[in-house]
Amino acid sequence: MTGEGSDRGASARPPHGVERVTTQDIPAICALYKRIWDPAPSGVPSEFAKAWIPTPLEFTSWMEGVTYFLVRRDGKLAGIVGAELRRGSCRLVHLAVDPDHRRQGVASALIATAVDWAKRSNATSVWADTLARFTTAGALFKRLGFCEAGLLHRHEWGEDVRYFERTL
Ligand SMILES: CC(C)(COP(=O)(O)OP(=O)(O)OC[C@H]1O[C@@H](n2cnc3c(N)ncnc32)[C@H](O)[C@@H]1OP(=O)(O)O)[C@@H](O)C(=O)NCCC(=O)NCCS
Repeated sequence: MTGEGSDRGASARPPHGVERVTTQDIPAICALYKRIWDPAPSGVPSEFAKAWIPTPLEFTSWMEGVTYFLVRRDGKLAGIVGAELRRGSCRLVHLAVDPDHRRQGVASALIATAVDWAKRSNATSVWADTLARFTTAGALFKRLGFCEAGLLHRHEWGEDVRYFERTL
């Protein structure tokens, strides 16, 4: 089923160079998450937003066991995603794209790279979860060949959480 999903979201646009995150990128990464989640967007629980704004030290600990990829535009950080291998499956975490660079294929390029990385790491599936209220993220995952795999009610800070998966 989902293994037939295409990367059309990534391939239909000019390619973005995707790089691995290094420790030098950490200040810009923390600033990007802060820009997106502070103040918390309307309706988003403040606890959720806070959990998505790491200090440099916290981001350093997020990097343990997680491979982060980023895209730069004009030398500045435009987007980031983490990929975590666990029990033969790859989870995508902390996806974020700078508001000035949205709808330009940045998330698609990041996820395509993470999917390739997961395949090379012998993962058999890639999955992600997102608050159900983030319909944009849901549309993105479906566009990239992920299937909606489930919904947990009032799962995080009282919010419904949707799961998306793509088998490899
Ligand atoms: C969700 C998010 C990562 C998308 O990043 P992006 O770089 O703008 O996404 P892309 O440009 O690669 O979009 C690919 C496809 O996703 C869908 N999509 C993306 N943004 C959309 C929007 N605002 N409305 C509807 N569909 C959207 C579209 O199908 C789009 O393809 P199209 O532009 O050809 O129609 C970005 O909006 C974001 O950072 N949002 C806030 C943080 C967040 O929600 N993170 C995810 C938590 S899991």
